[in-house]
Amino acid sequence: MARHLITSAIPYINGIKHLGNLVGSQLPADLYARYCRARGHEVLFLCATDEHGTPAELAAAKAGKPVADYCAEMHDVQAEIARGFRLSFDHFGRSSSPQNHRLTQHFAGRLYEAGLIAEVTEKQVYSHADARFLPDRYIEGTCPNCGYDKARGDQCENCTKQLDPTDLINPRSAISGSTDLEVRETKHLYLRQSLMRDRLNAWIDSKTDWPILTTSIARKWLNDGEGLQDRGITRDLDWGIPVRRGDQDWPGMEGKVFYVWFDAPIEYIACAAEWAEAKGLGEAAWRRWWREDEGAGDVRYTQFMGKDNVPFHTLSFPATLMGSGEPWKLVDYIKSFNYLNYDGGQFSTSQGRGVFMDQALSILPADYWRWWLLSHAPEGSDSEFTWENFQAAVNKDLADVLGNFVSRVTKFCAAKFGADVPAGGSPGQQEEALIARLTTRIREYEAHMEAMEIRKSAAALRAIWVEGNEYLQEAAPWSTIKLDPDRAAMQIRLALNLIRLYAVLSAPFIPDASAAMLAAMRTDDARWPDDLPAALAKLGAGHGFEVPEVLFAKITDAAREDWQARFSGHRA
Ligand code: MF3
Ligand code: ZN
Repeated sequence: MARHLITSAIPYINGIKHLGNLVGSQLPADLYARYCRARGHEVLFLCATDEHGTPAELAAAKAGKPVADYCAEMHDVQAEIARGFRLSFDHFGRSSSPQNHRLTQHFAGRLYEAGLIAEVTEKQVYSHADARFLPDRYIEGTCPNCGYDKARGDQCENCTKQLDPTDLINPRSAISGSTDLEVRETKHLYLRQSLMRDRLNAWIDSKTDWPILTTSIARKWLNDGEGLQDRGITRDLDWGIPVRRGDQDWPGMEGKVFYVWFDAPIEYIACAAEWAEAKGLGEAAWRRWWREDEGAGDVRYTQFMGKDNVPFHTLSFPATLMGSGEPWKLVDYIKSFNYLNYDGGQFSTSQGRGVFMDQALSILPADYWRWWLLSHAPEGSDSEFTWENFQAAVNKDLADVLGNFVSRVTKFCAAKFGADVPAGGSPGQQEEALIARLTTRIREYEAHMEAMEIRKSAAALRAIWVEGNEYLQEAAPWSTIKLDPDRAAMQIRLALNLIRLYAVLSAPFIPDASAAMLAAMRTDDARWPDDLPAALAKLGAGHGFEVPEVLFAKITDAAREDWQARFSGHRA
């Protein structure tokens, strides 16, 4: 038994995420967490909402709510949708938690003492009307490049030119519209990541088993010169974690907060502390997952994220942890993903293009989405969601292959032998051959799951389902029963046991259908089939079962066309 710490990148608080976001972190992390638990490992699976930064403030302002209220509400919305997708977090935390405040301030203090934080005086725009410094995005004006009059202080949306706020012509506050602005000197903190280049390089070099997607991004940033520049880790915002070092004030930093990308990954740790508190456990309970000197020496830590998040997880967060000089657990494996596109273009939150998590659940149960998304995870390259492909995969894999097997076997047995597992007969060559093939396939499935090769895992699982159908076809109990009823009973007894086996093996992908299959077999024995012959003899003669409701309904052309039209863009 091993101990697995598993985290998914924490989604921004502003708005409901689309299926591309889901398949890029939370869903594969859940698959892996469920698999590790099923194999008997101890798992701590954590996720949270990422609640700070300008986007959160702006979204709250747009919703006309105080930012703290907005975040609390949206956290609950995201938590509810996560439950809908059966994401099995041990805790779904909040980066605005008191635990994260404390830890973030703690790390800042340690980094300061280690000489890894520089105080830099810079010029910044101050708004008298708003009585605050304005971050780049809060300043609007005319683009010096193209003349667009709503360019933001960081970039012109019209011509895409990167800007400094002082470049703008006729600058004004995006909050109040005031033009009573002044450039003032102000102090900010910089994380001196560049001092850690050698340590980070050596650490990345030691990760020879990481996916190329992860290490190539990390190396590019490390060696690119630009990549490992010192980064500003403070901002002039109201909402965020106040800049302090440990529990002390930080002279000159009054009214400032940490930059969202500084505190967000620290929430991975804080989330464990939130989990312990919610469970009524003490500090030691979470520290044994996070501190090498307090029990985390044998923890294997895996992170899941989209490729855009990789630099923060391979450089700045490790720099924070290493730089603290304390034995915090570093990540052992980073599984990163490309993008999922939508029907010939990109998912777009601003245009409402594509399927969002709440909408997905309103049209079909979680398992349909889980299966399609995972079996098409954008691992090697970007992948694309199309309704035709979704319909075909659901109808074929889930309805024809798995669902049909379950329904044929249970219905045939109920009609010919009654509502109990039938007695009689003993396995022969055909069954031995089946068990041999299944054993090989299950070991393949396990190997892919352990390697987090998600598409390959899905294909291996599907191949296991197919074996059942092929066996049924060749054993043909509906013919056998006429000549040799005992043999037919043995065949169908094996097939009923295959249903239980499939429930166990498939649970990480399709947990609800798996639960329905176990319930139909009237068992809660979900132990992993380390010994296949024994696993296929669990339901013995006389054990009752039920014919379950249709596990997966087929998607009709009419439904597909309707959804296709509905999700083409411009969500209200
Ligand atoms: N909120 C970020 C995003 O959605 C991810 C933050 S991951 C963490 O891109 F490391 F900061 F936690
Ligand atoms: Zn412009």
